[in-house]
Amino acid sequence: MSAALPHHLTSLQLRDIAMTEPALKLEQVEKSFDKVRAVDKVSLEVNTGEFFSLLGPSGSGKTTLLRIIAGLETPGNGTVHIGGRDVTRLPPYARGIGMVFQDFLLFPHKIVADNIIFPLKMQRLPEDKQKEQLNWILSLVRMEGYEDRYPHQLSGGQKQRVALARGLVSRPDILLLDEPLANLDLELRKEMEVEMRRFQAELDIPFIYVTHNQEEALTLSSRMAVMHNGKFEQVGAKLDLYNNPKTRFVAAFLGSPNYIQGQIKRMEGTIAILDWRGLDLRIPAPANATSGDKIDYFLKHERILIQSLRESEPAKGENRFEGTLRDIIFKGQHSAYFVVLENGEELVVNAATEMPSLKIRHAVEVGWLPEAGDAFLKEED
Ligand SMILES: Nc1ncnc2c1ncn2[C@@H]1O[C@H](COP(=O)(O)OP(=O)(O)OP(=O)(O)O)[C@@H](O)[C@H]1O
Ligand SMILES: [Mg+2]
Repeated sequence: MSAALPHHLTSLQLRDIAMTEPALKLEQVEKSFDKVRAVDKVSLEVNTGEFFSLLGPSGSGKTTLLRIIAGLETPGNGTVHIGGRDVTRLPPYARGIGMVFQDFLLFPHKIVADNIIFPLKMQRLPEDKQKEQLNWILSLVRMEGYEDRYPHQLSGGQKQRVALARGLVSRPDILLLDEPLANLDLELRKEMEVEMRRFQAELDIPFIYVTHNQEEALTLSSRMAVMHNGKFEQVGAKLDLYNNPKTRFVAAFLGSPNYIQGQIKRMEGTIAILDWRGLDLRIPAPANATSGDKIDYFLKHERILIQSLRESEPAKGENRFEGTLRDIIFKGQHSAYFVVLENGEELVVNAATEMPSLKIRHAVEVGWLPEAGDAFLKEED
């Protein structure tokens, strides 16, 4: 428990607060720099045990929001509650948080042990307690035996473990992480992703994890928010965001889908028939759509069936088109198939790597049901 808790509350009352209040609550948080609205009216609740990611492109406000939670930045408006306490005006050290950054920020001339216990020294924890916490965290991050090394004597992954150990050594109520794996190579990143999930599960505290890497966010999180221009576009379980994007931005961003533009020719109940450069394409009609409307339709690569000609009959209402297989790119567990359709448009299809019936420059068929993609009225700019 942190130092700044109100003294008049009994431990029972404190426990009740801890049990009913979310671990982190943001209400209408705003931050502007000159003319830039970096964070725009963000509200959020994160509970104990959640692995929560803030995902968004560069400049969307992720770091600013994390720094507001940490107390490194003061919001222009709004409040931050941690464990039921209003910490909006408290300094970072009084908030019960730990932090890990992309560039590790280790002290180069301090050994690993001194780097890790630095926050405990700041808190003036007795030395035997420091030692106890150090040993606990070294074993959690599997860095026993490295206590006396200097940062330059460590690999990138080991430095990241030390940075994590320092973020966790004071047993914070929340861990904040800003692109902590961005400087690691792919293999190490995959390994650290697994470790990160293990730390989070063992400690059972919420992790708030900032990244612009959607694969990382999808791998790690239980819930996530997609940020864009300082706002939350959508917040929810990762599968829900992936499968049911509510905004055009989320649909266009997650899964890097095929982008199809067309105009509605006619409506058939909940289905709209789109003129897609001369092909009739069936899509789920967006709310309030009518004939003549311009549409953006996003179709994820793995939602498309690919096969040689007339291998199977189309299902009822299925879109089915012929095309030419331009290229196949082997990606290990799957391959990317590039299909050029009769209207000149190209689709990328992800499918199994072993499809001996499909040959480059040969005719193929692609198919999908309307609801396999996400349709939005085109935003006029
Ligand atoms: N100290 C500052 N002074 C002025 N503008 C700032 C400051 N910090 C951030 N900004 C601006 O606020 C916006 C959000 O920046 P932020 O660093 O939060 O983005 P981000 O989502 O973390 O991006 P990245 O993925 O590149 O790290 C940007 O337009 C940025 O230029
Ligand atoms: Mg950032």
